[in-house]
Amino acid sequence: MTWLITGGTGYIGAHVARAMAEAGERVVVLDDVSSGVPERLPADVPLVRGSLGDRELVDRTLAGHEVTGVVHLAAKKQVGESVEQPLRYYRENVHGLTVLLEAVVAAGIGRFLFSSSAAVYGVPEVELIDEDTPAVPINPYGETKLAGEWLVRATGRAHGMATACLRYFNVAGAVRPELADTGVFNIIPMFFDRITRGEAPRIFGDDYPTPDGTCVRDYVHVADIADAHLAVARHLDGRPGDLTLNIGRGEGVSVRELADLVAEVTGSRHEPVVEGRRPGDAARAVASVDRITRELGWTASLGVREMVESAWEGWCLRHPEARAKARSH
Ligand SMILES: NC(=O)c1ccc[n+]([C@@H]2O[C@H](COP(=O)([O-])OP(=O)(O)OC[C@H]3O[C@@H](n4cnc5c(N)ncnc54)[C@H](O)[C@@H]3O)[C@@H](O)[C@H]2O)c1
Repeated sequence: MTWLITGGTGYIGAHVARAMAEAGERVVVLDDVSSGVPERLPADVPLVRGSLGDRELVDRTLAGHEVTGVVHLAAKKQVGESVEQPLRYYRENVHGLTVLLEAVVAAGIGRFLFSSSAAVYGVPEVELIDEDTPAVPINPYGETKLAGEWLVRATGRAHGMATACLRYFNVAGAVRPELADTGVFNIIPMFFDRITRGEAPRIFGDDYPTPDGTCVRDYVHVADIADAHLAVARHLDGRPGDLTLNIGRGEGVSVRELADLVAEVTGSRHEPVVEGRRPGDAARAVASVDRITRELGWTASLGVREMVESAWEGWCLRHPEARAKARSH
């Protein structure tokens, strides 16, 4: 019994691959290394280099490794880029998934986990977002994730598979520094980037209808995300049907609170500067985690401090000047 992990050299994928391998599952990774780092993988996890759009390669990988389940994380994930290049995002995230699912069906594989995102919800004005909150994405990235969910569910129903669409909220942190996110697309690395440049962290808008006026988000440690994948993978064993699950902590943290924590962890005394709101930012996006708790008995165990501390360790590994720079202000 082997799990294929697509996108397994990526930030989240490498955490998932490691967690599953350490838990005794056999795993193989398929990744074109377009944004991944092969060194993130343990030496005993095989890496097949190539695209999930390459049907022949996918067929060979599924057969050659006797794959019985798939965790599909490979995707393009930058919201801004998806607005500029929608066709590329639909090709990679939707067409690529179609090719993968065709191969999975042809191989008779019965278990499929799909990396979805809270981006499918758009900007709902609710206190807690549950899985029945209408999915109204506001950018092509979110649209491709929602279309991916439709593809996965429809294919699962038609072919008697067990599927799970996992809607991650704001993923942060690292299990070890070399596994950290290398992109600067999320707020924590964006704060680190400014501090390392000797510039004040930026807060986009402090006039939202939230307790301190800044946006509130649900941050979840990547170790918890990986642990949830393992729990879902084992839950899917021999159970046809589809699951759609939020993965978050169910607790909101404001951008201002996060900035304070970043200052504490990094030693930076830069006072954040407040700039105008960014288009498309919801005031609040916090998950209801009732369903994953009820279905799997799973809850996140790590807090925001662990996320910021471990993310900072990873950042400093790649930016050795960061510590001194942070403390020089
Ligand atoms: N990081 C987050 O906060 C977040 C939140 C919600 C959902 N997600 C989803 O989680 C998944 C993983 O995200 P991540 O943050 O690890 O991103 P990442 O860019 O670090 O990882 C994506 C991986 O997929 C690989 N890849 C991309 N296109 C491919 C293709 N066509 N064929 C084979 N490999 C390909 C890349 O090389 C990379 O290793 C994505 O599906 C993303 O949409 C991420």
